[in-house]
Amino acid sequence: MDPIVSIRDLSISYPGNGSRSAVKHISLDILPGQAVGLVGESGCGKTTLALALMGMLPPGCDHRGEIIIAGQKVDFYQRPGQPSARDHCAMIFQNPQTSLNPVISVGTQINRVIQRYSRLKKSAVPDRLAELLVLVGLSDHCRKLYPHELSGGMQQRVLLAMALAREASILIADEPTAALDAGTRLQILNLLKQLQEQQKLSLLLISHDLSAIARVCQQVVIVYQGRVVEQAPQKLIYTQPRHPYSAGLLAAIPKIHPQRPRKLQTLLGEANHSSDQTGCDFASRCSRREAYCEQQLPPLNATLEKSQQFACFNPRPLPAVRK
Ligand SMILES: Nc1ncnc2c1ncn2[C@@H]1O[C@H](COP(=O)(O)OP(=O)(O)O)[C@@H](O)[C@H]1O
Ligand code: SF4
Ligand SMILES: [Mg+2]
Repeated sequence: MDPIVSIRDLSISYPGNGSRSAVKHISLDILPGQAVGLVGESGCGKTTLALALMGMLPPGCDHRGEIIIAGQKVDFYQRPGQPSARDHCAMIFQNPQTSLNPVISVGTQINRVIQRYSRLKKSAVPDRLAELLVLVGLSDHCRKLYPHELSGGMQQRVLLAMALAREASILIADEPTAALDAGTRLQILNLLKQLQEQQKLSLLLISHDLSAIARVCQQVVIVYQGRVVEQAPQKLIYTQPRHPYSAGLLAAIPKIHPQRPRKLQTLLGEANHSSDQTGCDFASRCSRREAYCEQQLPPLNATLEKSQQFACFNPRPLPAVRK
């Protein structure tokens, strides 16, 4: 199956940041109907990658590599009004309130997207609006409301309805639940999962939270300082993470179990952003570090079945198989 999104050897640096790149040699495929999760701590380049996919990089960025979406090459600095690969993407952001127009009812805002992007006749637009509201779990009377009359979770549902109205090839969700309380966060993640499965959406879900990604995505890509350090099916990342950073992210997920309370693990140290560093980016925080780790960059190796790739000279051993 051909990928709907193909990112090839993508590197991006912002002007004024010297030789320090926000995204480093990332290659990544998203298949039709697949949900891929991109995880990493704040500042590791997740939003920069999303902006590149949307052709929305700020002017002056230095970029190498290419992105193909639905067979069309992405222009990293898209000029407004011109057809582009961006037309195949829909995106929702962390803070839904800033993405909605405060003086227009949400029904009218969704209607405008339907009229612009779907091939429906004008007479069919109200039915499509009603259908979208049901899909995202909003009652029909919400169409008359203004953004300030909705909770954060409801606003995010409106943005999801607008994203579906675009009938895009790929939905990019950049930290869509980061601004929501814990209960609402779970509802929105469950909705994303349900929509992804029902509508066979191709989804790139971006988060700093591995548990959020695991709830929704089939494939997980872990990024550290702009570089992919591990990618694998969700089940493998959960049961046998090979890169120490992936293992650290996993150990930092709180688990509430009354019989077996577990002390929450934290990743020690901070990311080293120095651009003249050689060797593994994670070395300053890694408990498995050896002298050679600081001398050369570990390549992204694949396991024999090629389903799991990790960039580490000294990966965590696989768990022993129980007989
Ligand atoms: N407009 C910008 N100008 C200069 N540097 C930027 C800009 N946006 C992001 N960066 C830098 O690029 C790196 C990656 O940022 P970002 O993609 O926002 O990370 P994330 O979304 O993972 O938090 C960070 O070091 C950040 O400081
Ligand atoms: S290459 Fe070395 S320093 Fe880097 S993650 Fe692996 S063991 Fe740690
Ligand atoms: Mg971000």
